[in-house]
This record gives sequence, structure tokens and C-alpha cells, in this order.
Amino acid sequence: MRRRISASILAADFGNLREELARVKDADLIHFDVMDGHFVPNISFGLPVIAAVRRCSEVPLDVHLMIEGPERYLEAFAAVQPEIITVHYEAAVHLQRTLRQIRELGCRAGVSLNPHTPLDGLRYVLDDLDLVLIMTVNPGFGGQQFIPAMLDKIQHCRELIGTAPIEIQVDGGVSLENIPLLAAAGASNFVAGSAIFQAEDPAAYIAKMRTV
Ligand code: DX5
Ligand code: ZN
Repeated sequence: MRRRISASILAADFGNLREELARVKDADLIHFDVMDGHFVPNISFGLPVIAAVRRCSEVPLDVHLMIEGPERYLEAFAAVQPEIITVHYEAAVHLQRTLRQIRELGCRAGVSLNPHTPLDGLRYVLDDLDLVLIMTVNPGFGGQQFIPAMLDKIQHCRELIGTAPIEIQVDGGVSLENIPLLAAAGASNFVAGSAIFQAEDPAAYIAKMRTV
């Protein structure tokens, strides 16, 4: 399975964003953790930052909405033409409708699950899904430790998806150390913040993430 690498901008130096973006120009996606201080206990950044990145990078955008009531903001985020908009399973009360709206707005539709959230309900929205994001930490902060119990969950997710063209993305504590295990369990899309931005040579690190 072809691996895709999504560089999480949360770990970048925001004072030098243009230079930071140049360091990750080989990534397949730039990942944005939008946090509202309600769904997660942290506030990060919003649309103006994503729009600014859009203007100085060619890399497709991957928007991870860690916000309550994500349906209220879909149009606004779709306006910056991200490849993917991902909402949280726990925050989207009418999930199927929200996923359909994301596609209608011209983006690929993702759903993210917190570590303790069961996979069960996903089987009813498979037709409306392009990506499942299995959180491998509790969302809200970069630099946390990967939760090993998620390997089992990824495997079960892969079984649930079967042959449907849906990517499994993992996010949180992802590094060269655990990518082989994550890939063997069935993940094909790897979000990493600290590991990529703290690397001396992010381009080389990203290349290794594809082959390790
Ligand atoms: C966690 C975020 C992640 C975060 C990953 O709430 O969803 O995208 O940026 O950061 P690292 O790779 O540092 O764990
Ligand atoms: Zn994220």
C-alpha cells in the first residue's frame, strides 16, 4: 500500500512559517490541527493561518477539526480548498450528513476517533467516507506518547473497511520507530509533527517514513 505522509504544522516554528514549509515541501500533505478549547483542552489556530499556508505552499492541505459542531465551519474551511477535511466522530452529531456535506464542498471526507471511541458506528457511514483517522494519542497536544493499544484498533478498522477505497490515517506520537508496526496493522497515511520538524533533515526523515 502506498504510504502518504502528512506533516503536522502544530510542531513548526510559527515565527518562521515560510521556512518551515520549505523544509516539508516533500510531504504528501500539510496537516492542520484546529482546536477550539472545548472539544480539546487547547486552542491552536484557525482559518487565517491555513489560508496563509495555502498561499506559500503547493502541498495539499489536510484539515483536522478538533472542534465542537464542525458542521458550522465546513464551508469556511472548504474555501481554502483542502484535499481532506476530517471531523471528530464524538463531535459530529449527524455524522453522515456532515460527511456528505464535506464531499459536496469538493473535499475528501474524513472522520477521526479518539483512542477509546469504538469503531462500530463507522460501518454505517462507509459509503460517505474517504479517510478514517485513528488517534494514537488523546487529541489536543503535540509531542505525546503513542498508545500501543491502537495497533489492534487499526487492524480492526482495516477489517471493517475491507476493500472500500478508504485511507487509514494515524496521528499522535508517530515516528520511524512505530511506523513499521502501524503500517503492518493497516495504516497508510501517517501524520507526524514533532518527529518531522525536530529532524535535522525533514526531507530525509519523510523519505525514510515512506520506506522504513
Ligand atoms: C494531536 C494532533 C496531532 C499532533 C501530532 O492532538 O492531532 O496532529 O500535531 O503531533 P506529534 O507528531 O508531535 O505527536
Ligand atoms: Zn491532528
